[in-house]
This record gives sequence, structure tokens and C-alpha cells, in this order.
Amino acid sequence: MKNRTLILSALVAGAFGSAHAAEDLSAKVEKLVASSFKPGEGQDMSRLAQDETQKLCSKYRNNPPAKDADAITKRERATIKYPDGNKLMGDWKNGEKLAKGGFGMRIGAIEPDPAAKQKGGNGGNCYACHALDPKEVAAGNIGPSLTGYGALRGASDDIVTYTYDKLYNAQATVACSSMPRMGHNGILTPAQVADITAYLVSPESPLNQK
Ligand code: HEC
Repeated sequence: MKNRTLILSALVAGAFGSAHAAEDLSAKVEKLVASSFKPGEGQDMSRLAQDETQKLCSKYRNNPPAKDADAITKRERATIKYPDGNKLMGDWKNGEKLAKGGFGMRIGAIEPDPAAKQKGGNGGNCYACHALDPKEVAAGNIGPSLTGYGALRGASDDIVTYTYDKLYNAQATVACSSMPRMGHNGILTPAQVADITAYLVSPESPLNQK
């Protein structure tokens, strides 16, 4: 408590104490946020530094002018990589597991994940933001419901590619989407993105059953 009061006083002093008040304050806040994450063994703290896309989205509070939005979607699209053999429909059963998994890449946890578990064991954490399998009741609503995704849209090449691209890099289509750039940020591999694509699109997937 005492520490927090001190920090707050420092921030307030920073805000009123200089001609560059706003910049000083935001630099201090960034430093404070960065120092509040406890890095675990092998954890990539570079994620706390914003890339060009994130800087623009912050600057315009996720509502950039058309010119900047175009520049973002173009840059993000160029990052998309496809799996070997360009097979964008993988194994829906594995996709189901990945969609449910919330493990991996956490920073600032009370006990940071050990290095071995941080590699290759990530989930997509889709339920944090989306409804998917109608049998799963614990679903978030930051993103649209994906229940019946393939049943509603079919499984044409266009839909499969759109879905894969969305998962690989959501900001290739919506400049300042709050959906994590799963492939681009190395959360999921191209093959895993293809598995989740199949989970969304495939007619056999539980997502698409009445
Ligand atoms: C932090 C929240 C968040 C997480 C986690 C997340 N999404 Fe999203 N998702 C969104 C938001 C917000 C949108 C709408 C904006 C957009 O299209 O980028 C969206 C859009 C989508 C769309 C496009 C829907 C449409 O109607 O075209 C698909 C498909 C999708 N998400 C699938 C997934 C899957 C599968 C996962 C897990 C691998 C996932 N999302 C994880 C927030 C999230």
C-alpha cells in the first residue's frame, strides 16, 4: 500500500512537474507496467515493446485513419505463412484441443511457466473471447460467436483461406483487431492454425452440429 502511494505520488509529480508532462507520464507508466511483469526462465519480454502496428493502434485508439489502416493490413498480410504443402485444412480434432487450451506464453503469472512448457505447448485460448462448441458454457464475448461457423458459411476455398488468414494474423483484415495474431506472434504454428481452421470449417466438427 505504502509503495503504491509512493508510486502514485511520483506519477503525479511527473505529470505536473515538467513542460513535457504527458510524455514523462506515459514513459513512467510504461516503465511501471514493464517492471510489474516477473520474467520466467526463457520468457520473451520483448513482447512488452510495441511494434509499428501496435504503436499506430495505440496512437489512434484502435481507430486509425483509412490510410494508416491500409498500411497496417498490408504489412500484417505480408507476414502470413502457410503450412508445408499449403494444406490449410488440418485435423479438426487437434484443432478442438488447441482452441480449448489456454496454456502458454503467460507473463506476470504468480509462478511463471517453466521454459520447457512455454515451447510448443500453447493453446489458442479461443473461449476467452468466443463461443464455439454449443456444449461449452464458459465462453467469452469480446469476439463474435463462432458456433455453427462452417454450417453457416460452407467450406469453399475462399472461406478456408479467409479463416486461416484470420487466425494467423487477425490484423491483416481488421487493422486494430483485439484478437491476438496467433501465427505471426508464434503462439501457434502454421500446422496448428490449419488444425483450428478445420475445427471451425469442417462439417464433422462439433461446432457445426445442430
Ligand atoms: C482476446 C480476444 C480474442 C481471442 C483470444 C480470439 N479472438 Fe477471434 N476475434 C476476436 C475479435 C475481437 C474479433 C472481431 C474482430 C476481427 O475480425 O478481427 C475476432 C474475430 C474472429 C474471427 C472472424 C469472425 C468472422 O465472423 O469473420 C474468427 C474466425 C476468429 N476470431 C477465430 C478465433 C479463434 C479460432 C481463436 C482461438 C485460436 C480466437 N479467435 C481467439 C477476439 C479474439
